[in-house]
Amino acid sequence: MRHPRTMNRFARVAVSVLPAILILAAEPVYKAKVGYAPEQPVPYSHKTHLSMGLKCSNCHQPDAEGFAMSFPKETFCMGCHNSVKKESPHIAKVAEAAKTGKPIEWARVYQQPEMVWFSHDIHVMDAKLGCETCHGKLEDMAVVAKARLLDMKDCMDCHAKASAPNGCSTCHPSQ
Ligand code: HEC
Ligand code: HEC
Ligand code: HEC
Ligand code: HEC
Ligand code: HEC
Repeated sequence: MRHPRTMNRFARVAVSVLPAILILAAEPVYKAKVGYAPEQPVPYSHKTHLSMGLKCSNCHQPDAEGFAMSFPKETFCMGCHNSVKKESPHIAKVAEAAKTGKPIEWARVYQQPEMVWFSHDIHVMDAKLGCETCHGKLEDMAVVAKARLLDMKDCMDCHAKASAPNGCSTCHPSQ
């Protein structure tokens, strides 16, 4: 018979390794289907906040090179939430993040693999595409749900229709 202490140690190793295996096995975000809507650490609602007249650009700005959009600073949220709903446990999390400067880790809905080159400025400023072309109607979403596949075929189909460049190196510069 096995000594109970050995069993315990085995169980402890299994418990610490299992989550790591699950994370490795999980599908990357960019492979998710349309409708994918992960639970967020704080139940922030675009529907509620956009109905108050806030604009996308109040919370999302392209980085200096025009590639990635930013996520809002929690200090911005607290501009209202210092007085609105401050008794809510969800707002307590936002307040904590604002105080410590450690941002909330939002679950990503759209995220390309490292090998893909995507610029917001080119699509929004040059091609004049609205945010909703790719992200759907956020004003109707209490939880962000993936609105468009944006996989390689989807990107290439739109490029073909719009007569935009479509060689491999357009989106994979190292190839
Ligand atoms: C008051 C701030 C605020 C405003 C205004 C706002 N957003 Fe957001 N947005 C957030 C926050 C916070 C998240 C992360 C939590 C979530 O996904 O719900 C987010 C997430 C997103 C995401 C998901 C990104 C990803 O890959 O996970 C998209 C797309 C997005 N917003 C688009 C928009 C668009 C388009 C508008 C305007 C129509 C808009 N947002 C207005 C705060 C805002
Ligand atoms: C042509 C399609 C397209 C349009 C138009 C578009 N986006 Fe995106 N968006 C994407 C893709 C693709 C990603 C994932 C980018 C990545 O991971 O490199 C993304 C990611 C995001 C994110 C997460 C942060 C990031 O950049 O990875 C936010 C926030 C966002 N978009 C907001 C917006 C807003 C606001 C607009 C309008 C001003 C907009 N998007 C217009 C395709 C688009
Ligand atoms: C312009 C003011 C304003 C800003 C900026 C703002 N909010 Fe809100 N928020 C509100 C209002 C108003 C409500 C609705 C309160 C109600 O239901 O009575 C709300 C509701 C919420 C709720 C639901 C709270 C609950 O327990 O019911 C969450 C979570 C939330 N906001 C998160 C955020 C986050 C995260 C940000 C920053 C990305 C943010 N808010 C920015 C005004 C704001
Ligand atoms: C709804 C249509 C549409 C979708 C979807 C789209 N694009 Fe585009 N894209 C365009 C248009 C139009 C241009 C040309 C913009 C211009 O120069 O005026 C462009 C330009 C580009 C460029 C710059 C090309 C160059 O060399 O000038 C890159 C890179 C790019 N897109 C990558 C992507 C990727 C990656 C995706 C998918 C994640 C994607 N696009 C999805 C319409 C789209
Ligand atoms: C308009 C943008 C665009 C063009 C042009 C493009 N790709 Fe892609 N490619 C993507 C995107 C977005 C992904 C990630 C999403 C996916 O796997 O569909 C991707 C993924 C890939 C992958 C990884 C697949 C995987 O499942 O991990 C390979 C390999 C690839 N592309 C090769 C190519 C080759 C070869 C060409 C030229 C024939 C090309 N791509 C042209 C956008 C593009």
